[in-house]
Amino acid sequence: MDKELIIILDLGGYNSQLIARKIRQCNVYCEILPCHTDVEKIKGKSPKGIVLTDKPAAYGQDLSVTGVPFIYIGELVGDVNLSGEDSTEFTEALRNFLYKTCGCSGNWNMTSYVDMTIKQLKEKIGDKKVLCALSGGVDSSVSAVMVSKAVGRQLTCIFVDHGLLRKNEADEVEAVFTRQFDVNFIRVNAQQRFYGKLAGVTDPEKKRKIIGEEFIRVFEEEAKKIGKVDFLVQGTIYPDIIESGTGKSGLVKSHHNVGGLPDHIDFKEIIEPVRDLFKDEVRKAGLVLGIPEKLVNRQPFPGPGLGVRIIGEITAEKVKILQEADYIYREEIANAGLDRQISQYFAILTNLKSVGVKNDERTYDYTVALRAIKTVDFMTAEYVEIPWDVLRRISKRIVNEVEHVNRVCYDITSKPPATIEWE
Ligand code: XMP
Repeated sequence: MDKELIIILDLGGYNSQLIARKIRQCNVYCEILPCHTDVEKIKGKSPKGIVLTDKPAAYGQDLSVTGVPFIYIGELVGDVNLSGEDSTEFTEALRNFLYKTCGCSGNWNMTSYVDMTIKQLKEKIGDKKVLCALSGGVDSSVSAVMVSKAVGRQLTCIFVDHGLLRKNEADEVEAVFTRQFDVNFIRVNAQQRFYGKLAGVTDPEKKRKIIGEEFIRVFEEEAKKIGKVDFLVQGTIYPDIIESGTGKSGLVKSHHNVGGLPDHIDFKEIIEPVRDLFKDEVRKAGLVLGIPEKLVNRQPFPGPGLGVRIIGEITAEKVKILQEADYIYREEIANAGLDRQISQYFAILTNLKSVGVKNDERTYDYTVALRAIKTVDFMTAEYVEIPWDVLRRISKRIVNEVEHVNRVCYDITSKPPATIEWE
């Protein structure tokens, strides 16, 4: 398949990621380049056309030397509100530009993209060895499966169970990778090691740091046993690339993604099989590759996992309590058919104990909080109005079925001023 490329030149003005998504929805592949990109570099990429997010004057270089059509997106958008309803008018105008003006054939789709990527990976890797830190998240799972389809057992996946995953999650990931795909799968049960390191630590940022560092250490130790590898797989996705180095607003929390880059592993090069894809495209690729829907449509889960959902000190007992409560919550949300309408939902184990009564006996047990939010970009979020009867059922089940919980609260705060996670 010829890779027909459209360049989006990000000059501010219209949202470049939104435009990129619209172009890809027309089955045309596109990439975003920053405003300072030299015109010769654009030319070197041999695009079929160029889309500008602001008027050409904002670029300051002469695009007509590229010899391909270019357009200011505002001319196609007209009065349409792009973030609102899908506009057939705009889509029609965009298609006209892509197909008629630029001569694109619209041959880009996920199946051919996945096939092409696997073929390229095969050529690149040859008979060499590849290592992957699998987190069980969508990005690393899809990346790993792409490599496995390309080179099979030349790939080793290391999956570190840090003891802060949701109930049954580690077993589910292991089952998918060992039964369905042809890879060397190593599961490291490092739960006690993490709990040991975290004992007595209450500061959220310290917890994040310890979990992130310990993860790298465990991964490195396992990797050493394998010896020299040639490539390391990373689940970088397109927004990570666009957003890196754009000088975002100040750091509110460190988002230490478990699976970050280790320092002491002997490898030659990094492979990023999904680096060109947006999140929803990664999910589509996952389905094309045959990864179960449950894993592909998984809601975001922070790298430090339940570690930032247990307020205060983390202990094995608290992890167990939270896993059980969170499992009931997720089960009831799914039963109520609400799981697809909520962007992210989870339980939190607060550090608060209060008085209650169970079987005529006084109890002094934990309060579990429930959170459910709706968001487009996770930068801002609204809490979801879960129906009372669903909340009632969840609360009842949690206090009846989970030991050491005697109270359930629902978080009705949006972001801002609250964050999505509690720590
Ligand atoms: P906040 O709590 O900052 O969360 O409103 C925004 C999104 O980021 C996720 N999150 C994390 N992800 N490591 C991660 O990989 C982290 O330390 C972390 N903290 C928050 C959170 O789940 C939400 O989707």
